[in-house]
Amino acid sequence: MTQILRIKGGKPLKGKVKISGAKNEVTKLMVASTLFDRPFYIENVPDIEDVRITADMLRRMGVDVAFRPDKHVIALNATRMSKHEAVFGEGKANRLSILLAGPLLHKFGKAVVEKPGGCRIGERPLDLHLYYLKQLGINIEEDDYQISLNGKLTGGSIEFPYKSVGATEGALLASVYAKGTTVISNHANEPEIIELIKVLQQAGAMIEYDSEGRIKVTGVDYPLHVDHPIAVIGDRVEAISYFAAALATNGDIIAEGIDQRHIFTALAVLRRAGAKIDITNERIRVSRNGILLPLNVETDPHPALATDFQQVIAVLLSQAEGISHIHETVFEHRFTYLEQLNKLGGKFTVSTDCKPFKDCRFVNKNEHMATIKGPAFYHGGEAEITDLRAAFALAMAGLLSDNVTTLTNVHHLLRGYDRVIQKLQSLGANVELEES
Ligand code: UD1
Repeated sequence: MTQILRIKGGKPLKGKVKISGAKNEVTKLMVASTLFDRPFYIENVPDIEDVRITADMLRRMGVDVAFRPDKHVIALNATRMSKHEAVFGEGKANRLSILLAGPLLHKFGKAVVEKPGGCRIGERPLDLHLYYLKQLGINIEEDDYQISLNGKLTGGSIEFPYKSVGATEGALLASVYAKGTTVISNHANEPEIIELIKVLQQAGAMIEYDSEGRIKVTGVDYPLHVDHPIAVIGDRVEAISYFAAALATNGDIIAEGIDQRHIFTALAVLRRAGAKIDITNERIRVSRNGILLPLNVETDPHPALATDFQQVIAVLLSQAEGISHIHETVFEHRFTYLEQLNKLGGKFTVSTDCKPFKDCRFVNKNEHMATIKGPAFYHGGEAEITDLRAAFALAMAGLLSDNVTTLTNVHHLLRGYDRVIQKLQSLGANVELEES
């Protein structure tokens, strides 16, 4: 049985939306629970497939996991974790297995980790993960499917050549118990990483920043645990997705549960594109200020514009009069969805040439530069969802068409957007999930 998303658009999105907990934080906290010697409780947990995939992997290792999606809570207890292998269930994978290397090495002195899956948006090598593990004294062997590791985690110097989110998190998870001091430089700074540091410090870990902004972790020899529930921060990608959809459809949305500090740059980009943005301590309201304007934007590690925002911004800019550009500098192959948008009426082209931006590591190699001719008139039809963030962008094209749009590969959307059908319906959209 396959699922299809059917959208009959033409109506502006209007109303209030409660932003769910961040996908990119909750799964990391679930992994962190394997470092703790007591049960660990997480609140504001989104009901998404990625949580189930991670829960399934942890259960295979002997971790007790109780997920109550109706209450948005999850309880984890790793005290009886008995297996040193992090493997996914049949046909299910995300990026999380490699993050278990550190906790498993700490507990068992060895680990076997299935190579991660997740969206195909670039090569997504694991060299930076293998690098920090080597710097912490670990021996590594790998084949096409898995990585075998053994050794005693010992503090070391980690100088990342690129600000990788996953590798920064992996280095933190591996170093909290490593003997001695670990210094991590050129680390990523995404809000979800700050939250992970916050939770690890609450658990008793010794983490600080030095005068050059490097993260210094002093390994501890006592067990870590957090006795109170931890609430996950609002999902910044979900928030920007709804804001972009509201703007594109000439709607008016009030979002609750999102922290402005996590989306400064994206809000500025929306404002430059023609958004009227009204912010209070409790909520952010986004509607149009006039006509939509074309823009040139580029993605980069936080606090610059996140690569996970570019897809919905691409559809938004396709409604502006004139030419826009998006320069993707984080993943080298993240524009495949544009072909699907073109099937629905988009006027996107891609190139390997970064002009008018300055050259980046993908120049003349990868199609990482998108040109957007607006306004595009989406006419409905069929398209295939290529990856998680593209899913919402394609749904936006459906919301912009008076005709019916059907999207396949809906599992990508459900992997990362909590109750997305219900939320869109509550904002007035005519969307349905159909089994075929
Ligand atoms: C995380 C997010 C994802 C987001 C991305 C960038 C999760 C579960 N996913 O993915 O939503 O789009 O950050 O903000 O949190 N790289 C290497 N070698 C490595 C690791 C990474 O070259 O060993 C490269 C990647 O190919 C990519 C860049 O570093 O070009 C950034 O990747 P990274 O920040 O690691 O992304 P993820 O942690 O996989």
